[in-house]
Amino acid sequence: MTLASKLPHIGTTIFTVMSRMAAEEGAINLSQGFPGFGADPVLLDLVAKYTREGFNQYAPMAGIPQLRERLAEKTQLTQGYFADPETEVTIVSGATEAIFAAVTAIVRQGDEVIVLEPAYDSYEPAITLNGGVPVYVPLSAGDFSVDWEKVKVAISPKTRAILVNSPHNPSGFVWAQKDLDQLAALIRDRDIYVVSDEVYEHITFDGLTHLSLGSQPELREKTFVCGSFGKTFHVTGWKIGYCIAPEKLTAEFRKVHQYLTFSTVTPIQYALAKYLEMPDRYLSIPDFYQKKRDLFAAGLAQTELLFRPSSGSFFQLASYGHLSQIGDRELAERMTRTLKVACIPISVFYSDKRDDKIIRFCFAKEASELQEGLNRLKDLSKIL
Ligand SMILES: Cc1ncc(COP(=O)(O)O)c(C=O)c1O
Repeated sequence: MTLASKLPHIGTTIFTVMSRMAAEEGAINLSQGFPGFGADPVLLDLVAKYTREGFNQYAPMAGIPQLRERLAEKTQLTQGYFADPETEVTIVSGATEAIFAAVTAIVRQGDEVIVLEPAYDSYEPAITLNGGVPVYVPLSAGDFSVDWEKVKVAISPKTRAILVNSPHNPSGFVWAQKDLDQLAALIRDRDIYVVSDEVYEHITFDGLTHLSLGSQPELREKTFVCGSFGKTFHVTGWKIGYCIAPEKLTAEFRKVHQYLTFSTVTPIQYALAKYLEMPDRYLSIPDFYQKKRDLFAAGLAQTELLFRPSSGSFFQLASYGHLSQIGDRELAERMTRTLKVACIPISVFYSDKRDDKIIRFCFAKEASELQEGLNRLKDLSKIL
């Protein structure tokens, strides 16, 4: 028997490929998006406490009430809107699950879903596996802002949803109020839902703040806000996140979540609920990352790469087209094998794999590691 693949175009992700290559080569790994430093010991102690105290059996399907309540309080404090913990907040196994469950809840056979690209790699398979059709709209060259005229043109009677992401991976672009207004106007009076990937909600720079789609009453009615405690608290391996959506949407979302994972890791939910009682822990995250962004941008300015400092997320893009026309995958491989610094080629974030000669670095690393990586990048010309 041969199993006909439902995702024939999908192979090993570039993140796995580059991280593996970085390990083989002993390279500094600025490729995959995970922090190179530990979590707050207070949070780690809380997890130890709750595991030892016996909070190790299935949690309620929607998440423990305490965590949903604390998350609703955080949302009120940071985004100024009320989400009912009972009916509108669900704890899930990472934002990846939130996105998959939201897409599954809404997308039917033949429905079109607008995806702005470059895009995070989990969106397309979620759409395709549900019989949907991704309709790609490129972000603007240069600053990766949304070209709302292009989005307008992409909307058709078959459009069921739009998948958005701010702060944006890989570009670091952060939406402004005018973007939210444009989106609201475009889908007004249309049955179009929004899946909003907000995993970098706490990582913005230079005084910018993240505007959740949930904070806009008109958008809130149609939006699944997907978040990640893993990204926020430097614990990506815990795979724990959330979805906030209006009651009717949450009801459908939970039907899917119930049979994807049923519930999410119990002791970590208790630990996070306690930890969220200390808002300063998450309110201090922008400053923490600003220092890293500044250090990385200052160092990158000493290399031959061109870049605009990232406005959000823990990624920095850099372009090299003025130096060489080699492919971005080839450059990433040479950088890893010869300079011993791993990065991600941006072509992998495009459906047509277009190569604009741009690479992505993750700067969620210790200062010493960033510094060493930057020193090595000064020798870039040797590999071009
Ligand atoms: C834009 C974006 N969305 C979602 C995720 C996945 O989040 P989680 O680890 O909580 O599933 C990532 C992780 O890299 C991401 O960059």
